[in-house]
Amino acid sequence: MLRAGMKFEGRDLMSEKVDLYNNSYGNPGADVHREIRTETYGQDFGQTSWTTSEELHEIPQVLALSSASNVLEIGSGAGGCALHVARALKCRVVGLDVNAEGVRQANQRAKELRLDVLVRFEQADACQRMPFDDNSFDAAYSNDAVCHLANRAGVLAELHRVLKPGGRLLFGDALVVTGLVTNEELATRSSIGYYVFAAPGQNEKLIAEAGMELLSATDTTTSAAAISKRWHDARAARSASLIPIEGEANFAGLQKFLQCVHTLSTEKRLSRILYLARK
Ligand SMILES: C[S@@+](CC[C@H](N)C(=O)[O-])C[C@H]1O[C@@H](n2cnc3c(N)ncnc32)[C@H](O)[C@@H]1O
Repeated sequence: MLRAGMKFEGRDLMSEKVDLYNNSYGNPGADVHREIRTETYGQDFGQTSWTTSEELHEIPQVLALSSASNVLEIGSGAGGCALHVARALKCRVVGLDVNAEGVRQANQRAKELRLDVLVRFEQADACQRMPFDDNSFDAAYSNDAVCHLANRAGVLAELHRVLKPGGRLLFGDALVVTGLVTNEELATRSSIGYYVFAAPGQNEKLIAEAGMELLSATDTTTSAAAISKRWHDARAARSASLIPIEGEANFAGLQKFLQCVHTLSTEKRLSRILYLARK
């Protein structure tokens, strides 16, 4: 069996597992993390995704939201995007994430911002049946979390079930394989967790099979290329502060991961596509 650390002719056969989310969600207020996010995204929403600030600001319009909307976010992380949407529109948002620390931080931030009447975050595995009634939400979105979910057909069927007729779904998938990728690159690109890579056209097919109409599929690979470079460089400039927090091996592993995202997206061998669909 292949294990992390095994070598063949001096090469890693499998990348070591690297922690991104616990590190980010566990120290959200640390100055060094705030500085890195600001340098990476231009604005700090506590993000850990390839969603640019511009894309994030466009979510209400793309999803046709109003103050009456009830919105679902899948993989809400530390909650920054959901809180931004709720604050901007005064609408209701529910965020689901499997990461307990992310959910805790997100609910705490909702309280601090006095948005807890509108927004709540629940710890749940989005691969399972979602804890909501049929036709509950006007819209749903996911910033780069769908690639972490097993059984994508089942997840899309669940999203179809909980969306109201006409409800919109927006999600980004940065793991569409559009070129040649080596086993080492796949291992490094997957080193922060469970990932599912998709063939071109696969998401379109699954959206249709779930009973939804695809409104657009936009190539945003350049966002992943730019964000991964800025994130890598902002971290490199602060290695002296980061290594005591996350450890030398994890620091190096995350840098290797970000460099890999940058190379694969710059060379368009992995693409990030943003899908907008309607029930
Ligand atoms: C790329 S991050 C995006 C976080 C946040 N949306 C953002 O924009 O910064 C992906 C998120 O998906 C979450 N996730 C991974 N697997 C999941 C699962 N099975 N169910 C729910 N959330 C999951 C991770 O914990 C992480 O917070």
